[in-house]
Amino acid sequence: MYKAFFHLTRNPFDLTPNPDCFVSTRRHNEALAALYYGVRWHKGFVVVTGEVGTGKTLLLRCLLRLLKESKDVAYAYVFNGRLSPEEFLQYVLADFGLPASGKNKSELLLDLSRFLVDRGSKKLSTVLIVDEAHLLSEELLEEIRLLSNLETTDDKLLQIVLVGQPELDEKLDSVSLRQLKQRIALRAQLAPLNENETRDYIEKRLQISGANLQDAPIFPAETASAVYQHSQGLPRLINTICENALITAYARQARSVMPEIIHDVAREFRLNGGALREDAVMGRSSEINFGQQTGAMLDMFSRLQRTAAHGPASDLGAAAEQGGHELHI
Ligand SMILES: Nc1ncnc2c1ncn2[C@@H]1O[C@H](COP(=O)(O)OP(=O)(O)OP(=O)(O)O)[C@@H](O)[C@H]1O
Ligand SMILES: [Mg+2]
Repeated sequence: MYKAFFHLTRNPFDLTPNPDCFVSTRRHNEALAALYYGVRWHKGFVVVTGEVGTGKTLLLRCLLRLLKESKDVAYAYVFNGRLSPEEFLQYVLADFGLPASGKNKSELLLDLSRFLVDRGSKKLSTVLIVDEAHLLSEELLEEIRLLSNLETTDDKLLQIVLVGQPELDEKLDSVSLRQLKQRIALRAQLAPLNENETRDYIEKRLQISGANLQDAPIFPAETASAVYQHSQGLPRLINTICENALITAYARQARSVMPEIIHDVAREFRLNGGALREDAVMGRSSEINFGQQTGAMLDMFSRLQRTAAHGPASDLGAAAEQGGHELHI
């Protein structure tokens, strides 16, 4: 509705986690590098945690886009953590394209291990990706740990990616899951954006959506600061505020969004700034440093973004959630 008014080609603050709209930040880059190299280098367990709405699912969709390039990766993508161990196994097998219905747990495990051994013998990579992993029961997390025991003398047959809210870190700290915790090869944490990153984020999402940098900014600096103040740097809240601000500005036929509009939207959405715990605002330090390799991965990702922008419409997110993935393109 407002796209033509602001000379945009797409809705800049759509809430769907779409890799075409990925904005590079230090933490997102580090986390994506941990996911990508953890899988490519057969590290076994990789864990990424972050507050609600910081971009975890988006990162997984970016990872899938990168893995598609590799041609030798199959993955199962689980996005519902509330499953019993048997339902979980059934889902995973079915997502790998294996028959699963009517089988008991030991049959499912046997089929899965044969599948992994076969792929391993052909030097193919197999990945289990779990989003919303903070919802997994301890019983299921322990079951997943046992899957990581499937390995040859020199290689892990199943790469396991767990992504979830900070409660996942707390779960993994529990004494009963210490064996799993010890097996985690790479960990990364997403945190809310700081004020500068928030300003960049808004600008880049507008740019990706066709905004012309020569025109007067749609979100001037003081407006972006107001967005930061009310969103506390959480990307999903930034999107919600900015989307609604654009609608209001359009209704008032204003080409630039003034800070008052942001305050009005925040009031409507009852954003009183108390939704975050302190450690999330501060972010926790990440020790990941892939150096030049992160650059190489980001180059590859940008190339894929450009291809997606000029090629046929991509709907990676929908594809991921439909499952069934032998990644050949
Ligand atoms: N680096 C980023 N670049 C572009 N958009 C981002 C980025 N990080 C987050 N977003 C956007 O923020 C919104 C929330 O992201 P996402 O759904 O991935 O969060 P989440 O961490 O999975 O949240 P939840 O914990 O509720 O599952 C999406 O619209 C996503 O596109
Ligand atoms: Mg998510």
